[in-house]
Amino acid sequence: MKEQVEVSAPGKLMLLGDHAVVYNRPCIVTAVSARVWVMIEKKPGHVAIEAPQVKNVRFVEEAISVFKRKYRVGDGFIIKTKSDFSCRYGLGSSSAVAIATLLSLSRFFKQAMSLREIFNLGYQTTLNIQGIGSGFDIAAAVYGKTIYFLTGGKVIEPLGVSHLPLVVGYSGVKADTATMVKNLRLNTPHGKLTAIFDSIQEIVERAKTELLKGNWEKTGELMNENHRLLSELGVSTNRLDKMCQAAREAGAYGAKLSGAGGGDCMIALVPEVGREKIERAIERVGGVVIKVSPNAEGVRIES
Ligand code: PMV
Repeated sequence: MKEQVEVSAPGKLMLLGDHAVVYNRPCIVTAVSARVWVMIEKKPGHVAIEAPQVKNVRFVEEAISVFKRKYRVGDGFIIKTKSDFSCRYGLGSSSAVAIATLLSLSRFFKQAMSLREIFNLGYQTTLNIQGIGSGFDIAAAVYGKTIYFLTGGKVIEPLGVSHLPLVVGYSGVKADTATMVKNLRLNTPHGKLTAIFDSIQEIVERAKTELLKGNWEKTGELMNENHRLLSELGVSTNRLDKMCQAAREAGAYGAKLSGAGGGDCMIALVPEVGREKIERAIERVGGVVIKVSPNAEGVRIES
């Protein structure tokens, strides 16, 4: 057992494929520079958690249970968390804290785990709490960078994208992902869901090719098309639509909501020279620009 370990894991942004990825289709996700930190240290006879973000406590607790069940370790530690970003933004603080907890436990108890094993236990953790989800956020927290991902981690393919000029805008409204996913299933005829998800799948495949070529114009067009389909599913909001429109009018290659919709964030792919103009345009329609950069490193030991 080690005395003390500190680990951090990144948040995420869904680039393309939102919702469809829950239904056995691919998405593209990027890890962001904002990170969640987990510190674990010896505290004989205890399992204590100090996490300022209440929602994260459940994910830490569940990650500990899943780890203990698998590796049959005992008590004797305290876990403290801190975050570079608010859990309100929907940037994946829950998945990041679960993954950082798992790696910290594995180091603390000197129990070697591969990245795949950390992914599997992390995905189990989120399913135990939310009951639904593709696991894309878990993959971003584990592997980092920009990833082509298929439901449940059937495919996790790093795309080797070196540069991704993104602007991120928060719509000011916190959305609940599990509720959005369940409502979409309840309220949309099966045929419509399948048709739209098939189209989104095609967009993701084409965007993968264009991203690898660094063709931002084409990737941006595909993001616009993806946003239109998500709006058709009814998961966008007036504010998100306005923010995307403002970004496009100010010169973005493309813009879309990112994640479950109903609030949270939008993203815009931007020419570097026009970044500031686009940020101001998003703010003018009520968005809050969040300064994070994509393509960040996955979970890592800090000390
Ligand atoms: O709302 P977020 O950022 O957690 O993203 C949810 C993305 C969905 O595809 C709607 C759900 C999922 O688990 O993939």
